[in-house]
Amino acid sequence: MKETDTPGTCGEKPPLEQGLLALFRDRKGSVISGEELGSALKVSRTAVWKHVKNLLSQGYLIESVPSRGYRFLAAPDVLTSFELTSGLQTKRIGCHITSVRETESTNLLAFRLAEDSAQEGTVVIAEAQTAGKGRLGRHWESPPGVNLYCSVILRPPMSPVKAPQLTFLSAVAVARAIEEVTRLHPKIKWPNDILLHGQKVAGLLNEMSAETDTIHCVVLGIGVNINMLREQFPSDLSQPATSLFLEQGVSVNRVDFARALLTSLDVLYDDYLCDGFPAIREEWLSRSTVLGRRVRVSFGNRETEGVVTGVDNDGALLLVREDGVAERVLAGDVTIL
Ligand code: BTN
Repeated sequence: MKETDTPGTCGEKPPLEQGLLALFRDRKGSVISGEELGSALKVSRTAVWKHVKNLLSQGYLIESVPSRGYRFLAAPDVLTSFELTSGLQTKRIGCHITSVRETESTNLLAFRLAEDSAQEGTVVIAEAQTAGKGRLGRHWESPPGVNLYCSVILRPPMSPVKAPQLTFLSAVAVARAIEEVTRLHPKIKWPNDILLHGQKVAGLLNEMSAETDTIHCVVLGIGVNINMLREQFPSDLSQPATSLFLEQGVSVNRVDFARALLTSLDVLYDDYLCDGFPAIREEWLSRSTVLGRRVRVSFGNRETEGVVTGVDNDGALLLVREDGVAERVLAGDVTIL
């Protein structure tokens, strides 16, 4: 795994600190003497102490055990490339991780990196966004230190008309990651909302750069409200929102969540490249809040109502109206009636 951090941002560690953390991780829970650490890293015990102090100042919990050495207790819950890559075993997603403290929008930054020929699977993660983008030109509230804001660069060898299928893939990946890390069972609302008990906990914004037949890149933008508190939500939300913390009453380790998400994206994307859309559509439908329900879909000043019968290969919602006419809806906001 490669990792980078933009200068002045979080995560990049001097080689010695990386070496110390690697040694601590291998022997988690046991005391390692300063002498042993020093000889493994070819530095003095004083240098070891200096680097341990640096790690303590970054929020790592390391106990000094008098006359014996150091015991590693815990890493801070910060979304740095260093933390995210340790233990991440994926084929493509997260092959390169750029983590920043703050950016306008991780989707924008991911596009810039993609134009600069970033590899497929490159991930951009921010602790905060100053202009987080939501669907239909909305704003995505992105306070620091509590949630996950990430964008993944894909370069699928397929026609741009299939790109909406990747929104379904990322919705299923988020749902799987929530189930892996919590006791919660999310539902998916077309096209891209992840709900817990009817309230939005995550949103997806996939954007593409393409020519007629070729995709240059798709950026999967994923925002998950992880430990956000009630008072951190704006009062003028277009729909009720929640966080994993608010739903289960226990805070969630964001690094664990991010690793689970990158892993589920990796597995699903690999399956998708081999077997196509059918299995993803099946799982999406089984997790959907709208299948078989009567809904209203509004887009601008257009509105239509009907019972949902499925989604097609273009990601369109399939409805049967009261007058029996079948409709395909490509975009809009769904209200369950
Ligand atoms: C929505 O439901 O309206 C979509 C929200 C998508 C938010 C994420 S946060 C990470 C990525 N960067 C952005 O600017 N937006 C997406």
